[in-house]
Amino acid sequence: MVAITRVKESIHTPAEKAPEPDLGNEIIPKERYISKEFMQLEWDRMWSKVWLVGCREQEIAEVGDYITTDIGKESLLIVRGEDGKARTFYNVCNHRGNQVKFDQCGNSRTLQCAYHFWEYDLTGRLVNVPDEEDFHQGCPKDQLSLKAIKTETWGGFVWFNLNPDAEPLADYLGMIPKHLDPYHFENMAMVMNVTVNWDCNWKTAVDAFNEVYHVQCIHPELSYTIDDVDVQIDLYERHNRYLVPFKTYSPRLGEDLDEVPEALAEELAAIGMNADDFKGRVGEVRRAVQLYKRENADKLGYDYSEFNDDQLSDDYHYMIFPNITMNVMAESMMMFRQRPHESDPNKMYYDVQMFMTIPKGKPVPPLPDYEHVNHGERSLGLVLDQDSVNLPHVQKGMNSDAYKGLWISSQERRIRHMHKTLMDYVNGVYANDA
Ligand code: FES
Repeated sequence: MVAITRVKESIHTPAEKAPEPDLGNEIIPKERYISKEFMQLEWDRMWSKVWLVGCREQEIAEVGDYITTDIGKESLLIVRGEDGKARTFYNVCNHRGNQVKFDQCGNSRTLQCAYHFWEYDLTGRLVNVPDEEDFHQGCPKDQLSLKAIKTETWGGFVWFNLNPDAEPLADYLGMIPKHLDPYHFENMAMVMNVTVNWDCNWKTAVDAFNEVYHVQCIHPELSYTIDDVDVQIDLYERHNRYLVPFKTYSPRLGEDLDEVPEALAEELAAIGMNADDFKGRVGEVRRAVQLYKRENADKLGYDYSEFNDDQLSDDYHYMIFPNITMNVMAESMMMFRQRPHESDPNKMYYDVQMFMTIPKGKPVPPLPDYEHVNHGERSLGLVLDQDSVNLPHVQKGMNSDAYKGLWISSQERRIRHMHKTLMDYVNGVYANDA
């Protein structure tokens, strides 16, 4: 059987186990997933109060670049200004309510509404109204400019908060920058950007990525490359994580492997290691990968100096409340952003974005084309396709009169922790954070 050892101390990303809060064992009511009344509470008390990822800084790199994004009923316009600052506005023209921009992204030195050509500058100020003299009540610019939203940046992402009295982003993120700055997300290149319409509540999707209980069932092939048992779970104030050993195999297989499994052998070959060297000692692969990467960092083109050894092999999986789940590896990051539907608690938008650290000397790829598809129209890769199969059926089951709520195991306690934070928002615990 593989013995998993973990770094006890790190000068960089903390690896130590966080104290376990007592979250109880109560059933989690299904109404939080299916009820329109709860959906409204979530909007009023949570979505409109928390910091959310709007876009990648790289997506609005140049002055005049803009991107539109939706959260719930709101469309937002994120713009790069003449002064280099990113700003977020409600994407609504104050004339007759048209969306100022309909397209997903573009570049323009002014933001002109397509209906009657009211024009706003990149700071949102209304600067031109055709036939202005015909408005006998006047066109007061201070009342009719675009409504700005709090905007900050971290990790190469633009974040926004609909609450004008919101606490600073750094306070909201708490321990996250200390944990994740060593990965330098800001230097990673985005290589995939897809939104999928899923027929489930946004939390149904978050839950799917916050536990490994399902791995043995719907991802049997992962048993030959990861350990889904010796998983460290850490629950912080609002956010949480688990640390999953990769480059190894699952104790659930019930026996020591003699040969390196094919999938793991391919991962070794990709970095120049030979699986044949580990015949009869497959349990040593994970540690050997860590040492190999450390010794061959220059050859591989990566700077591993800010990582502990475990980070060179493992998935440090973080959840940033409420809707970001991310698989964080030494050379890559896969981020899922789960967004609520505007009116239906049984629907959501699932954003899959993948990022790579580009090895030294290799060209940085251009931004990928953005795709927005319905479930099933496009493969997201084997594992995510496997994940997505159950979700609409979970949502349908939750609507059954026979089902009461989530019956959560200890392995799934990140889900319980997320609900604790959610209910803290709903109950006003964070109402006076600013
Ligand atoms: Fe925008 Fe009329 S609605 S200019």
